[in-house]
Amino acid sequence: APLLNPAISPLAWMLGTWVSEPAGKGEFPTITPFNYKEEAVISHAGQPMLNFTICSSNPDTGKALHRECGFIRINPGTNQVAFICAQNIGVVEIEEGEVEGEQLTLTSRSLSRMSFAKEPHVQQICRKFCLTAEGKLEQTVSMATSTQSLAPHLHVTYRKLSS
Ligand code: HEM
Repeated sequence: APLLNPAISPLAWMLGTWVSEPAGKGEFPTITPFNYKEEAVISHAGQPMLNFTICSSNPDTGKALHRECGFIRINPGTNQVAFICAQNIGVVEIEEGEVEGEQLTLTSRSLSRMSFAKEPHVQQICRKFCLTAEGKLEQTVSMATSTQSLAPHLHVTYRKLSS
């Protein structure tokens, strides 16, 4: 495997193959709360960026649900991070924020969608990733839509399957 590019060492705590445990929890004021399974693969190829794929599924039937993939970049020598993400719901977005220790906080800076994307339309996405004291990865996502102001959508904790 290639050596970790030193530029991304502040994000090295995110590397690994992670699986939700317990199941992720989804909610939003306009929908019925739900549980989901999720696998996050966060890797690197020696370049100054992380590569990720995050795939969720129905925990009972295994049916594939939301998916996203992209890159996480850092402005070298700073704690400024960009999260570049394509989603299967027809949305692409760039979030930016800061890494502080083993916590990454992000807010969407630009977001666009295909012309025939389902409504309501997401207008803003805020996420947080952190590593817990037990070495688990945690992700929380809030969003605002065309019909609802910013509110929690997702919360999930992952166990590391492999580095
Ligand atoms: C609903 C966006 C991630 C599962 C929704 C809605 C939007 C949305 C706009 C419609 C809300 C409404 O009707 O008022 C997003 C965005 C995501 C994301 C932007 C990522 C940043 C996920 C993930 C799952 C998920 C990871 C896991 C399975 C659902 C479900 C619903 C929903 C089950 C309700 C049923 C439906 O309308 O399809 N999401 N979502 N979402 N989302 Fe997400």
